[in-house]
Amino acid sequence: MPTPAPGAVRSHSALAQIGDTPLIELRHLSPKPGVRIFAKFEGTNPTGSIKDRVARALVCALEREGKLRPGQRIVEASSGNTAIALAMVARQRGYKVCVVLPEGVPPMIADTLMLFGVHLHWCKPLAGMRGAIEEAEKLAEACGGVPLRQFQNPLNVQVHETTTGEEIVQALPEVDVFVAGVGTGGTITGVGRRLKRHNPKVRVVGVEPRMGERLQGLTRLEDHFAAPLFDLDVLDRRMLVGAARSLQLMREITLREGLVAGVSSGAALHAALREAETLERGNIVVMFSDSGWKYLPSRPWDAAQRDDPDLDEVHWW
Ligand SMILES: Cc1ncc(COP(=O)(O)O)c(C=O)c1O
Repeated sequence: MPTPAPGAVRSHSALAQIGDTPLIELRHLSPKPGVRIFAKFEGTNPTGSIKDRVARALVCALEREGKLRPGQRIVEASSGNTAIALAMVARQRGYKVCVVLPEGVPPMIADTLMLFGVHLHWCKPLAGMRGAIEEAEKLAEACGGVPLRQFQNPLNVQVHETTTGEEIVQALPEVDVFVAGVGTGGTITGVGRRLKRHNPKVRVVGVEPRMGERLQGLTRLEDHFAAPLFDLDVLDRRMLVGAARSLQLMREITLREGLVAGVSSGAALHAALREAETLERGNIVVMFSDSGWKYLPSRPWDAAQRDDPDLDEVHWW
């Protein structure tokens, strides 16, 4: 358990509000009376995403290991949520942050990072996350910063095993299927392990973007560079989802269930609905990894409704 260092998290601080997110039944979206779909809604974390859990665990671990001095710079490559989470956690703990960000991320992400006083280092989107990670390593070395390394650090899995997965087991011991998007693989591996330890019959479904398409925070297995973290043994099935369908379902979640969830939540919901078709009865937990506010300035629902042929060109990182 990546317990924060003593005194690191005061009970009413923003850092103390991370985790213990709600499990919300999607009553209007569940397609059959016997099949219930529940969203683990990570949008209630302080910066609105599941990555608050990871950032807090990794920064606290660096502190415990004596790798951070007050005022030192933490460097990370991220397409959005981890960067924002790290910005919040690091500022709270007295560190500076430098983020390597691929060009083309939604403008709100860069604006939020600037609000937190993060130093932005842009890289070409063609290099993808792999290129951004390499750049972050070079930058950390050049500026004497400390790399966060969410793609390599096993704590990124453990934090989901001991918190996200544990919360699901406690809230819904009768869970049959778990569906989550795959980015670093931290969520699916950590939660998947915890659920399978609880009940080996739980089916774990990973969601990835369809070839040539980009969805915020998600990576195709073929392009996967997080192999050290991602344990394929926990995965029973993978589903590839398109950007247009994800955006349509992102809107449906708001219209029918009252939640403003992000694009990857739409993708995960598509997979959950497909799983529901295969069941007579059962409980599906689907991960809604972030809230959707930061995507709204791009008016994603307009693009999805028009079935815009350019949609796939949009970088839904
Ligand atoms: C919006 C969103 N959904 C899903 C994921 C995937 O999470 P993980 O990195 O734990 O695989 C991410 C990761 O950054 C994300 O930002």
